[in-house]
Amino acid sequence: MNELQDLTTLVRASTPLLVIETVDEQRVIECFRHVIAQALHPLWRWTLTDGLTRLDFAQEIKVPPDVTATLDAIRAQNERGIFLLFDFDGLLGYAMSLRQFREIVQRQRSAAHTIVLVGAKVELPDELEALALRVPLSLPDIKELAGILRGEAAAWQREQGRNVDVDNDAARTIVRNLLGLSAPDARRIVRKLIYNDGALNQADLPELMQAKFDLLNRSGLLHYEYATASFADVAGVRRVREWVQRRRAVFLDPSTTPTLDPPKGVLLLGVQGCGKSLASKAIAGGFGVPLVRLDFGTLYDKYQGETEKNLREALASTELLAPCVLWIDEIEKGLAGGGDDGGVSRRVLGYLLTWMAERKAKVFVVATANAVDELPAELLRKGRFDEIFFVDLPTEPVRADIFAMHLTRRKLDPTTFDLPALAQTADGFSGAEIEQAIVSALYDAAGNNTPLDQATLIAALKQTRPLSVLMREKVEALRTWAQGRCVGAD
Ligand SMILES: Nc1ncnc2c1ncn2[C@@H]1O[C@H](COP(=O)(O)OP(=O)(O)OP(=O)(O)O)[C@@H](O)[C@H]1O
Ligand SMILES: [Mg+2]
Repeated sequence: MNELQDLTTLVRASTPLLVIETVDEQRVIECFRHVIAQALHPLWRWTLTDGLTRLDFAQEIKVPPDVTATLDAIRAQNERGIFLLFDFDGLLGYAMSLRQFREIVQRQRSAAHTIVLVGAKVELPDELEALALRVPLSLPDIKELAGILRGEAAAWQREQGRNVDVDNDAARTIVRNLLGLSAPDARRIVRKLIYNDGALNQADLPELMQAKFDLLNRSGLLHYEYATASFADVAGVRRVREWVQRRRAVFLDPSTTPTLDPPKGVLLLGVQGCGKSLASKAIAGGFGVPLVRLDFGTLYDKYQGETEKNLREALASTELLAPCVLWIDEIEKGLAGGGDDGGVSRRVLGYLLTWMAERKAKVFVVATANAVDELPAELLRKGRFDEIFFVDLPTEPVRADIFAMHLTRRKLDPTTFDLPALAQTADGFSGAEIEQAIVSALYDAAGNNTPLDQATLIAALKQTRPLSVLMREKVEALRTWAQGRCVGAD
């Protein structure tokens, strides 16, 4: 591990103050045990409960955990040491302690110790921050994670007296999917997967991915679905389906075909209620990967002032969930900040575009939008998305398919209906409106104590004024705009 080398170098150079932000205290201790194997300095640990103890060899010293006594004891050590102080920063509020601490760090009447402040979040007063070196603790790599898995399996075997039933392929996939997690988190997840059923196999993957997602979604902006819709659930998106099928293999393993650029993303533009959201889910299903939805609309409302940071974190988490589809539904809602938000939405767009252009992880972006006039031109420029698909109002045959799908979904036999007649009556209807008409006809039928029949359904359709009629100009303008600029989804 490189970081060990780095830490050793820092200790050898007698760096006075290091800060490590982590909850993985055990890992910090392990790291420094390795460091002292080379740098040969005494290693100390302080916690509020145990006070100061020496870790590298048993030495009985009695220092009460209070701050002044601890700092005095550190100062009294003539031999240059490494002091790991856990959750200590919060105790430096008193002027006296702060002064004492600073003197040690500045080596006034003190040996050239290395003080390491460790905590989930270490906040220092400015004068200390200026003296501190913050070291990121990297996360465990594949080898370490594999070790964790073996360790947990062995522990279970000792406890239960029988072997864990391990599917090696699945175990490798599990280890790969633990990347990005800290050692304690990885250990906790693996332990749970083993204790569920004494086995590690493919069936563990959905739970693993969900657990990982829950850990990574600190911003709360992401939503996760392991198994989503399939193209069989969406009528009228033939071209999108074929497009995805053709690229699936390259997306999942770009190394097999170095001449083909891996697909990056598509924008689905179109009339309301015609299946954009459904098609987005089907794209994840088509690639056979989980769907991660980014809640773009609430990015602004929820975190005043933290918008960009949260977007950065959310996108970074998404990469750790790869391969996956990142779905940004109604992208215009998240970008239409105009000029009155202090430039935040411009910066958000800029960050998103850069990320889309530069990301290496297998994250396929699907964005949807209803209104083009609210979309920034940069987003529509060629090269941003691989393709912009237009999801139009369904044609007559597609409407017939939508009727069949939704009747079947409600346990009705579509062959007992005259589908072409229904499709004709539903001229100008979106898929959502067709579904609504079926729902409302079912209520009518239930009210009359009869099964749903053709006449009731036709009557319900005739009562509906579709959006394409109510907002004819808007819908027409969108369709005109799309012509020549987009590829038809069907
Ligand atoms: N092409 C379609 N095939 C099957 N069902 C459809 C289709 N279009 C719409 N529906 C039905 O209507 C519902 C709403 O559609 P969906 O939310 O996907 O539309 P949308 O284009 O995302 O609309 P909006 O612009 O309002 O977000 C779907 O859940 C589905 O039940
Ligand atoms: Mg939608």
